Amino acid sequence: MIHITVPATSANIGAGFDSLGLALNLQNEIYMEEWDGPAISSRDGRPVPTGEDNLIYRTAKALYQRVGRPFRGLRIEQVNNIPMTRGLGSSSACIVGGLLGANTLLGEPLTRDELVDMAAHLEGHPDNSTPAILGGFVSAVLEEEHVYYVKKELDEGMHFAAFIPNFSLSTEVARAALPPQVSHKDAVYNLSRAALMATSICTGKLENIRVAAGDRLHQPYRLGLIEGGQRVFDIAYECGALAVFVSGAGPTILALVDAQNAAFGDRAAALLQAQRETRTFELVKLRPDNRGATVRVCE
Ligand code: HSE
Repeated sequence: MIHITVPATSANIGAGFDSLGLALNLQNEIYMEEWDGPAISSRDGRPVPTGEDNLIYRTAKALYQRVGRPFRGLRIEQVNNIPMTRGLGSSSACIVGGLLGANTLLGEPLTRDELVDMAAHLEGHPDNSTPAILGGFVSAVLEEEHVYYVKKELDEGMHFAAFIPNFSLSTEVARAALPPQVSHKDAVYNLSRAALMATSICTGKLENIRVAAGDRLHQPYRLGLIEGGQRVFDIAYECGALAVFVSGAGPTILALVDAQNAAFGDRAAALLQAQRETRTFELVKLRPDNRGATVRVCE
């Protein structure tokens, strides 16, 4: 049996819509071995699809087919620490886990870069799937089924606060909220900030990062779907966050927090609690993950 871990990811990072992403130190775990048919269960009691429609199973099967190897089936046991449909890359984690697992069981017919390409093709968004495989901060472009990327390891002392709501938002719905066209002005607004975000993170020069996190391509449209989301932005900035952005397609909101700002979590949690809204947000402290997905043989 093999054991796979895949980190959560946060895509977009403000202005870098569909192009920037980073991995976080919250991992899903998957145990996998060849079997006759699907035998799928959860090790943590959280319900998972147990049939052929299971995303890990389907993805693993796609890799067997791609490399022309017969597929009998798989036994899969899941530990889902990444909350589902919250904008933290839970689907990417399943896709990456399925690909990495199948590739390992078959003796690694595909290189890691081929897995990066296949994951982006299946997931549709290289800004989630690429950091899930590689870890760190990633800039990625998907062109003609190939991902052109650069990965930068992050300072593991970076602090993130994820405000995870008690409601879900599907990527499909969050993408449907986007306009078919944007103005030239908004395009320039974003590309200048995405460049500033990438260079700020790569150099560790974070003094401009609040401006760099500004966005006009997706957040203004998606915040309307995230009840209480604007208030979370306000609270996070009020408590001294360096940058705040919608994580992936939402509804989680991620704040980058100065490591010296030790009071951030308690202050933000107290302000959130004072809201007395039905839509609540759980505050989870996270760090970067520079390792990416891992796999090892186990008993
Ligand atoms: N960049 C994508 C989006 C990520 O924002 O729709 C979705 O997983």
